[in-house]
Amino acid sequence: MPSVLITGANRGLGLEFARQYAAEGWRVIAACRDPAKAHDLRGLKGSLEILALDVTDKHSVGNLVDALGTSTIDVLLLNAGVHLQKDCSLEALNEELWQREFNVNVIAPLLLARRLADSVARSDLRRIVAISSGSGSIQNMKAGGNHAYRACKAALNASMKILASDLASRGVTVVPIAPGHTRTDMGGSNAPYTAEDSVTRVRGAIGRLTFKDSGTFLSRDGTPLPW
Ligand SMILES: NC(=O)c1ccc[n+]([C@@H]2O[C@H](COP(=O)([O-])OP(=O)(O)OC[C@H]3O[C@@H](n4cnc5c(N)ncnc54)[C@H](OP(=O)(O)O)[C@@H]3O)[C@@H](O)[C@H]2O)c1
Repeated sequence: MPSVLITGANRGLGLEFARQYAAEGWRVIAACRDPAKAHDLRGLKGSLEILALDVTDKHSVGNLVDALGTSTIDVLLLNAGVHLQKDCSLEALNEELWQREFNVNVIAPLLLARRLADSVARSDLRRIVAISSGSGSIQNMKAGGNHAYRACKAALNASMKILASDLASRGVTVVPIAPGHTRTDMGGSNAPYTAEDSVTRVRGAIGRLTFKDSGTFLSRDGTPLPW
Protein backbone atom coordinates (compact mmCIF):
# COMPACT_ATOMS: atom_id res chain seq x y z
CA MET A 1 0.00 0.00 0.00
CA PRO A 2 1.59 3.36 -0.97
CA SER A 3 1.90 6.03 1.69
CA VAL A 4 1.34 9.77 1.61
CA LEU A 5 2.26 12.38 4.21
CA ILE A 6 0.07 15.49 4.00
CA THR A 7 0.78 18.72 5.88
CA GLY A 8 -2.17 20.91 6.91
CA ALA A 9 -4.47 17.88 6.65
CA ASN A 10 -7.18 19.09 9.05
CA ARG A 11 -9.12 21.32 6.64
CA GLY A 12 -9.39 22.61 3.09
CA LEU A 13 -7.42 20.86 0.36
CA GLY A 14 -5.32 18.91 2.86
CA LEU A 15 -8.40 17.30 4.42
CA GLU A 16 -9.73 16.38 0.98
CA PHE A 17 -6.36 14.87 -0.01
CA ALA A 18 -6.48 12.78 3.16
CA ARG A 19 -10.06 11.69 2.46
CA GLN A 20 -9.42 10.67 -1.14
CA TYR A 21 -6.09 8.89 -0.55
CA ALA A 22 -7.55 7.02 2.45
CA ALA A 23 -10.61 6.02 0.40
CA GLU A 24 -8.27 4.58 -2.24
CA GLY A 25 -6.55 2.42 0.37
CA TRP A 26 -3.34 4.41 0.78
CA ARG A 27 -1.60 4.67 4.13
CA VAL A 28 -2.25 8.31 5.04
CA ILE A 29 -0.03 10.16 7.49
CA ALA A 30 -2.10 13.25 8.16
CA ALA A 31 -0.16 16.03 9.84
CA CYS A 32 -1.86 19.02 11.44
CA ARG A 33 -1.18 21.56 14.14
CA ASP A 34 -3.76 20.32 16.64
CA PRO A 35 -4.88 16.69 16.20
CA ALA A 36 -7.27 16.93 19.19
CA LYS A 37 -9.31 19.55 17.35
CA ALA A 38 -9.10 17.89 13.91
CA HIS A 39 -12.62 16.42 14.13
CA ASP A 40 -13.24 16.15 10.38
CA LEU A 41 -9.91 14.40 9.89
CA ARG A 42 -10.55 12.00 12.76
CA GLY A 43 -13.89 11.12 11.18
CA LEU A 44 -12.30 9.83 7.97
CA LYS A 45 -12.31 6.13 7.19
CA GLY A 46 -9.24 4.17 6.12
CA SER A 47 -5.63 3.69 7.14
CA LEU A 48 -4.99 7.03 8.77
CA GLU A 49 -2.38 8.16 11.29
CA ILE A 50 -2.81 11.67 12.61
CA LEU A 51 0.38 13.36 13.79
CA ALA A 52 0.97 16.81 15.26
CA LEU A 53 2.97 19.19 13.08
CA ASP A 54 3.47 22.92 13.04
CA VAL A 55 5.63 23.24 9.95
CA THR A 56 7.39 26.37 11.28
CA ASP A 57 8.39 24.78 14.61
CA LYS A 58 11.61 22.79 14.44
CA HIS A 59 10.80 20.82 17.63
CA SER A 60 7.46 19.84 16.14
CA VAL A 61 9.20 18.78 12.92
CA GLY A 62 11.73 16.78 14.96
CA ASN A 63 8.95 15.00 16.87
CA LEU A 64 7.23 14.09 13.61
CA VAL A 65 10.46 12.74 12.11
CA ASP A 66 11.05 10.69 15.28
CA ALA A 67 7.49 9.35 15.22
CA LEU A 68 7.91 8.25 11.61
CA GLY A 69 11.07 6.31 12.41
CA THR A 70 12.07 4.13 9.46
CA SER A 71 8.72 4.46 7.66
CA THR A 72 8.89 5.24 3.98
CA ILE A 73 6.85 8.03 2.33
CA ASP A 74 5.85 7.48 -1.30
CA VAL A 75 4.35 10.95 -1.73
CA LEU A 76 5.28 13.90 0.46
CA LEU A 77 2.54 16.49 -0.01
CA LEU A 78 3.68 19.93 1.15
CA ASN A 79 0.22 21.46 1.39
CA ALA A 80 0.11 23.67 4.51
CA GLY A 81 0.04 27.33 3.61
CA VAL A 82 -1.26 30.74 4.61
CA HIS A 83 -2.46 33.83 2.78
CA LEU A 84 -2.34 36.50 5.46
CA GLN A 85 -2.87 39.67 3.39
CA LYS A 86 -5.56 39.09 0.80
CA ASP A 87 -6.01 41.63 -2.02
CA CYS A 88 -3.32 43.70 -0.38
CA SER A 89 -2.08 46.86 -2.10
CA LEU A 90 1.58 47.91 -2.18
CA GLU A 91 0.81 50.60 0.40
CA ALA A 92 -0.93 48.21 2.80
CA LEU A 93 1.72 45.47 2.66
CA ASN A 94 2.76 44.59 6.21
CA GLU A 95 6.37 43.49 6.68
CA GLU A 96 5.84 41.33 9.78
CA LEU A 97 2.93 39.44 8.19
CA TRP A 98 4.95 38.92 5.03
CA GLN A 99 7.80 37.39 7.03
CA ARG A 100 5.37 35.00 8.78
CA GLU A 101 3.84 34.08 5.45
CA PHE A 102 7.26 33.45 3.91
CA ASN A 103 8.16 31.20 6.82
CA VAL A 104 5.10 28.97 6.39
CA ASN A 105 4.89 28.99 2.59
CA VAL A 106 8.54 28.85 1.55
CA ILE A 107 11.08 28.08 4.26
CA ALA A 108 9.07 25.44 6.14
CA PRO A 109 8.25 23.22 3.12
CA LEU A 110 11.89 23.06 2.07
CA LEU A 111 13.18 22.31 5.58
CA LEU A 112 10.54 19.59 6.03
CA ALA A 113 11.40 18.08 2.64
CA ARG A 114 15.07 18.06 3.66
CA ARG A 115 14.26 16.23 6.91
CA LEU A 116 12.07 13.66 5.12
CA ALA A 117 14.13 13.22 1.94
CA ASP A 118 15.55 9.88 3.13
CA SER A 119 12.07 8.47 3.85
CA VAL A 120 10.93 9.52 0.37
CA ALA A 121 14.09 8.27 -1.37
CA ARG A 122 13.63 4.81 0.22
CA SER A 123 10.02 4.52 -1.03
CA ASP A 124 8.75 3.03 -4.29
CA LEU A 125 7.19 6.17 -5.83
CA ARG A 126 9.66 8.81 -4.52
CA ARG A 127 7.58 11.96 -5.11
CA ILE A 128 7.63 15.35 -3.40
CA VAL A 129 4.77 17.67 -4.39
CA ALA A 130 4.41 21.24 -3.15
CA ILE A 131 0.97 22.80 -3.45
CA SER A 132 1.78 26.04 -5.22
CA SER A 133 -0.43 28.52 -7.06
CA GLY A 134 -0.83 29.96 -10.52
CA SER A 135 -0.43 33.34 -8.85
CA GLY A 136 3.25 32.42 -8.34
CA SER A 137 3.84 32.30 -12.11
CA ILE A 138 6.18 35.23 -12.79
CA GLN A 139 5.30 35.23 -16.48
CA ASN A 140 1.63 35.74 -15.59
CA MET A 141 2.24 38.56 -13.08
CA LYS A 142 0.57 41.25 -15.18
CA ALA A 143 -1.19 43.22 -12.39
CA GLY A 144 0.12 44.79 -9.18
CA GLY A 145 -0.84 44.05 -5.57
CA ASN A 146 -0.97 40.90 -3.44
CA HIS A 147 2.84 40.95 -3.24
CA ALA A 148 3.38 38.64 -0.31
CA TYR A 149 1.44 35.57 -1.40
CA ARG A 150 2.48 35.79 -5.05
CA ALA A 151 6.15 36.27 -4.18
CA CYS A 152 5.91 33.39 -1.69
CA LYS A 153 4.58 30.99 -4.30
CA ALA A 154 7.18 32.12 -6.87
CA ALA A 155 9.87 31.50 -4.24
CA LEU A 156 8.36 28.13 -3.35
CA ASN A 157 8.52 27.19 -7.04
CA ALA A 158 12.18 28.22 -7.23
CA SER A 159 12.94 26.26 -4.09
CA MET A 160 11.28 23.11 -5.45
CA LYS A 161 13.10 23.47 -8.79
CA ILE A 162 16.43 23.59 -6.93
CA LEU A 163 15.38 20.68 -4.69
CA ALA A 164 14.61 18.65 -7.81
CA SER A 165 18.30 18.96 -8.77
CA ASP A 166 19.44 18.26 -5.19
CA LEU A 167 17.52 14.98 -5.10
CA ALA A 168 17.88 13.90 -8.75
CA SER A 169 20.69 11.43 -8.05
CA ARG A 170 18.35 9.65 -5.61
CA GLY A 171 15.59 9.33 -8.19
CA VAL A 172 13.17 11.62 -6.34
CA THR A 173 10.65 13.54 -8.48
CA VAL A 174 9.96 17.06 -7.14
CA VAL A 175 7.25 19.32 -8.55
CA PRO A 176 5.15 22.30 -7.51
CA ILE A 177 1.52 21.89 -8.63
CA ALA A 178 -1.13 24.65 -8.76
CA PRO A 179 -4.55 23.31 -7.67
CA GLY A 180 -6.59 26.18 -9.15
CA HIS A 181 -8.81 28.63 -7.27
CA THR A 182 -10.76 26.39 -4.91
CA ARG A 183 -13.56 26.86 -2.36
CA THR A 184 -11.77 26.55 1.01
CA ASP A 185 -11.24 28.97 3.91
CA MET A 186 -8.34 30.40 1.92
CA GLY A 187 -9.93 30.33 -1.53
CA GLY A 188 -13.26 31.77 -0.35
CA SER A 189 -16.82 30.82 -1.22
CA ASN A 190 -16.75 32.38 -4.71
CA ALA A 191 -13.91 30.24 -6.03
CA PRO A 192 -14.88 28.26 -9.15
CA TYR A 193 -13.69 24.80 -8.07
CA THR A 194 -14.72 22.49 -5.25
CA ALA A 195 -12.05 20.87 -3.11
CA GLU A 196 -13.23 17.47 -4.32
CA ASP A 197 -12.68 18.41 -7.97
CA SER A 198 -9.31 20.14 -7.44
CA VAL A 199 -7.93 17.30 -5.34
CA THR A 200 -9.18 14.67 -7.78
CA ARG A 201 -7.32 16.46 -10.58
CA VAL A 202 -4.14 17.09 -8.59
CA ARG A 203 -4.11 13.45 -7.45
CA GLY A 204 -4.46 12.44 -11.09
CA ALA A 205 -1.49 14.63 -11.99
CA ILE A 206 0.56 13.17 -9.12
CA GLY A 207 -0.36 9.67 -10.24
CA ARG A 208 0.90 10.33 -13.78
CA LEU A 209 4.24 11.88 -12.70
CA THR A 210 7.44 10.42 -14.06
CA PHE A 211 10.99 11.33 -13.17
CA LYS A 212 11.20 13.37 -16.40
CA ASP A 213 8.66 15.82 -14.88
CA SER A 214 10.94 16.63 -11.96
CA GLY A 215 11.74 20.35 -11.75
CA THR A 216 8.71 21.46 -13.77
CA PHE A 217 5.76 23.58 -12.58
CA LEU A 218 2.42 21.88 -13.26
CA SER A 219 -1.25 22.80 -13.38
CA ARG A 220 -4.05 20.87 -11.63
CA ASP A 221 -4.30 18.78 -14.82
CA GLY A 222 -0.60 17.99 -14.93
CA THR A 223 0.16 20.29 -17.88
CA PRO A 224 3.23 22.58 -17.67
CA LEU A 225 2.77 26.13 -16.38
CA PRO A 226 5.19 28.98 -17.08
CA TRP A 227 7.48 29.84 -14.16
N1 LIG B 1 -7.79 27.39 -2.05
C1 LIG B 1 -7.22 27.91 -3.13
O1 LIG B 1 -7.88 28.58 -3.97
C2 LIG B 1 -5.77 27.69 -3.40
C3 LIG B 1 -5.25 28.06 -4.65
C4 LIG B 1 -3.90 27.86 -4.93
C5 LIG B 1 -3.09 27.30 -3.96
N2 LIG B 1 -3.60 26.96 -2.74
C6 LIG B 1 -2.66 26.37 -1.76
O2 LIG B 1 -3.20 25.15 -1.30
C7 LIG B 1 -2.73 24.88 0.03
C8 LIG B 1 -3.91 24.56 0.93
O3 LIG B 1 -4.77 25.69 0.92
P1 LIG B 1 -6.29 25.65 1.39
O4 LIG B 1 -7.06 26.38 0.40
O5 LIG B 1 -6.66 24.28 1.80
O6 LIG B 1 -6.17 26.60 2.70
P2 LIG B 1 -6.90 26.53 4.12
O7 LIG B 1 -8.26 25.98 3.99
O8 LIG B 1 -6.72 27.90 4.69
O9 LIG B 1 -6.00 25.47 4.93
C9 LIG B 1 -4.66 25.78 5.22
C10 LIG B 1 -4.06 24.62 5.97
O10 LIG B 1 -2.68 24.94 6.25
C11 LIG B 1 -2.48 24.71 7.64
N3 LIG B 1 -1.38 25.50 8.19
C12 LIG B 1 -1.24 26.85 8.17
N4 LIG B 1 -0.13 27.19 8.86
C13 LIG B 1 0.42 26.04 9.33
C14 LIG B 1 1.56 25.73 10.11
N5 LIG B 1 2.38 26.68 10.59
N6 LIG B 1 1.83 24.42 10.38
C15 LIG B 1 1.02 23.45 9.92
N7 LIG B 1 -0.09 23.67 9.21
C16 LIG B 1 -0.38 24.96 8.90
C17 LIG B 1 -3.80 25.05 8.29
O11 LIG B 1 -3.83 24.52 9.60
P3 LIG B 1 -4.68 25.25 10.80
O12 LIG B 1 -6.11 24.76 10.65
O13 LIG B 1 -4.01 24.77 12.03
O14 LIG B 1 -4.59 26.73 10.59
C18 LIG B 1 -4.74 24.35 7.32
O15 LIG B 1 -4.77 22.97 7.56
C19 LIG B 1 -1.96 26.14 0.45
O16 LIG B 1 -0.58 25.93 0.27
C20 LIG B 1 -2.46 27.19 -0.52
O17 LIG B 1 -1.54 28.24 -0.70
C21 LIG B 1 -4.90 27.14 -2.44
